[in-house]
Amino acid sequence: MNTWVVLKFGGSSVSNLAKWKVILATVKQRLAAGYKVVLVHSAAQGLTDLLTKKITNNDDIYTPFKDKLNTLCKELKVELQLVSEQLKKLKSLVEKPTLDLWQQAELLALGEQCTHVLGVAYLNTQIETASLDPKSCLISSTDDQRSTESQILSAKCRVARNDILSEKLTENFYVMPGFYVSNCNHKTVLLGRGGSDTSAAYMAVLLHAKQLEIWTDVHGIFSANPHSIPSARLLLKLGYQEAREIAASGGKVLHPRCILPVEQHNIPLLIKNTNDPEKVGTVLAHEYSPTKPRVSAINARHQVTLVSMESINMWHQAGFMGDIFAIYKELGLSIDLVSTAQTNVTISLDNMDNVLTTSKLKALKDALSTLCEVTVIKNCSAVTLVGYRIRALADKIAPVLSSYADQRVHITTQSSNDLNQTFVVDEDQADKLVRALHEVLIIEDKEIDDFGPTWTELVQEKQAKPTVTTAWWQNQASELLSIAQEHSPCYAYHLPTIKGQIEQIKKLSAVDRFYYASKANSHPDVLRFMYQNGVCLETVSPMEIQRVQSVCPEISPQHILFTPNFAPIDEYRDEIEKGIHVTIDNPSLLFDYPEIFKHKAVILRLDPGHGSGHHRYVRTAGVHSKFGIPADDVERVAEFCEKNQISVIGLHAHSGSGILDHSNWARIADYLGSCLPHFPEVEIINVGGGLGIRENPGDLGLDLLQLNTALLAFKADHPNIKIWMEPGRFLVAHCGVLMAKVTQTKWKGKQGYIGIETGMNSLIRPALYGAWHNIVNLSKINDAHEYTANIVGPMCETGDVLGIDRKMPKTQVKDVLLIANAGAYGAVMASNYNLRAPAKEIIIK
Ligand code: LLP
Repeated sequence: MNTWVVLKFGGSSVSNLAKWKVILATVKQRLAAGYKVVLVHSAAQGLTDLLTKKITNNDDIYTPFKDKLNTLCKELKVELQLVSEQLKKLKSLVEKPTLDLWQQAELLALGEQCTHVLGVAYLNTQIETASLDPKSCLISSTDDQRSTESQILSAKCRVARNDILSEKLTENFYVMPGFYVSNCNHKTVLLGRGGSDTSAAYMAVLLHAKQLEIWTDVHGIFSANPHSIPSARLLLKLGYQEAREIAASGGKVLHPRCILPVEQHNIPLLIKNTNDPEKVGTVLAHEYSPTKPRVSAINARHQVTLVSMESINMWHQAGFMGDIFAIYKELGLSIDLVSTAQTNVTISLDNMDNVLTTSKLKALKDALSTLCEVTVIKNCSAVTLVGYRIRALADKIAPVLSSYADQRVHITTQSSNDLNQTFVVDEDQADKLVRALHEVLIIEDKEIDDFGPTWTELVQEKQAKPTVTTAWWQNQASELLSIAQEHSPCYAYHLPTIKGQIEQIKKLSAVDRFYYASKANSHPDVLRFMYQNGVCLETVSPMEIQRVQSVCPEISPQHILFTPNFAPIDEYRDEIEKGIHVTIDNPSLLFDYPEIFKHKAVILRLDPGHGSGHHRYVRTAGVHSKFGIPADDVERVAEFCEKNQISVIGLHAHSGSGILDHSNWARIADYLGSCLPHFPEVEIINVGGGLGIRENPGDLGLDLLQLNTALLAFKADHPNIKIWMEPGRFLVAHCGVLMAKVTQTKWKGKQGYIGIETGMNSLIRPALYGAWHNIVNLSKINDAHEYTANIVGPMCETGDVLGIDRKMPKTQVKDVLLIANAGAYGAVMASNYNLRAPAKEIIIK
């Protein structure tokens, strides 16, 4: 009898040669261990997003799609020609003005199909590889009662062990694209979100696999989202049910759908990190049900809308709930949480599962108002604790919640199986609540064996590997120590590092002009240095413009960009009069003050519809962000400008900050490019800033080469358009360090604290975004780590923490701690809170 393992690699895990090498090595290991292998894969990163744009915006995505494949082909050294059939099909679908559901499924499956052909071609140069067609072994259910749309775009299969199939697959290694399957008429249908994981789970069941391995870009399931809580612990072992609850409550690693099939057939599921293949991961199996009460994960789901329904008639009225729920069903809205009282029922709608347009909410309100009084509460978050016998932990949870008494906890729900508890709070409270609960229920509970290393520990170990380049401050420790002796707490900025970053960015030959986003660090010497090195300056306030003009008196107004947001109209008028490039991001400015802009050249900031970035506070596009002109208004604005002789010479978009996906800027360029027909005078597109750096040790960094290739492709299609870019962080983050002396150390039980002279008043990023900055004891830079401690400042705030659970050498009062990568958004965001002056700034030439 064959023994199979099924491996699944996600979109980022199949997007370049390095990742395919990890795939190859993993497959070889499994084969050497005597297993037969089915490898299921997703579409290479970015392909499905592009295909979706054809459906949502009717964008012509043919060329960018082909370019992406071309880049992959070059890496894998295989011919693009291999996917000519698929590209032909793409072309014919892209040319259709609208696509029916069947055609949408055909289109969306192309991402996996093309990745498959190229991946198999590459693997075959290294190892004997057979291709497996998912439509030959996975058939969607024929008894699905859901809508036609669900049956086509979010199909389900009923699977059971199939020994005949297992015997038929005589090769040792098969590769199969995930996400799409066949229906009973041989038509392509999709498995919906998390589809490739589900394909892999189905295959594991069919082949009665020994194990299903999901390879992704994280180490496994953590006790919280590690990007907001770096002290989140890796969960080494989880019961399926717990894992399903975590997945459903906002944990992003697995989709709950893929767990059920392996759970029903008791196949262990292992999650592993493609970027760090040697490290432990998370295993899911039945036998991992915990024995004592615990919380294993705390997650938040944002963009939750509550509907509160009040009526005295509901009391003892049979069928009232039925009538209400029928209305939701009618409108196709799926309800998540329900909380009931004698005269009130409140439910939550999750924006992930529902399309909550204003018109849909209005229709809901209208229909419900015949039965009850309705209040819609938007911008909420559902914070969910998942664990085992959670009710027994009430004594720990209650004090945290009571500190939220002033804030509103709109709903509390508790599952009857005692596996989860959810609190719905205002969106801006959610991250804080998660952090507080995580501290009490996970960090302080040192007894739980199934908790593995923290995320920080995992990535710190990775950083310790020799591949990481040495930062400038590591070679200048003694000079920095003497600066710190005299000036601490202080920032030190190393101008040669900025020079190095400028040289890097100038490799983007597709970009015609760079404007440094001076908000990132507006120290006069930094601004002057940028301009002297050929970088123009982007500003967002008249004060920044004054600073720029005073330190660079020779600067031409054309070399200054002014990109304000919700600023008083006088600022626009004054700066445009000076000949400075002004960017406008609100149609009403133009409509209300056309005389100010008449006969003037302006740049319009458009909202590309989807934001990105290291934290949701820095994502600056999409309906929940205040920036930019929405797509719906573009045509109206264009007509108005033409009629009022306002000359639109540039289009701009900036989607967020700290972005490491190189395709972001090509996506922006494509969006702005698609708007060009409305604006015949446009000569420039400004694709914004947001270029990320290797901030968290696990980050791979931004691939500037790929970014450039994609922008060059845009230029080839638009030879008369100049490209501008406005990076901030990328140019200055690495150049700056914050240094402060240790004031006190303390132990509270098992938790160590190291206090330093300054905290969130100098560097607010850890408190505000949960940002991770490397922290070292500069006085003992070569000493071995002895313990972990939280690095805290002197402010009267529990959130005044610069680093959580950091490995430190034996640290004493007066030692100098150095906080790295603090050159961007450090001093510029400082405050005098508690009347403590923030760190001074020192320049190192
Ligand atoms: N252009 C515009 C229109 C911007 O709003 C920004 C940043 C940039 C360019 C530069 O973005 P960068 O390349 O620096 O990512 N305080 C946050 C970052 C806020 C960014 C605000 N806008 C942080 O510390 O991460």
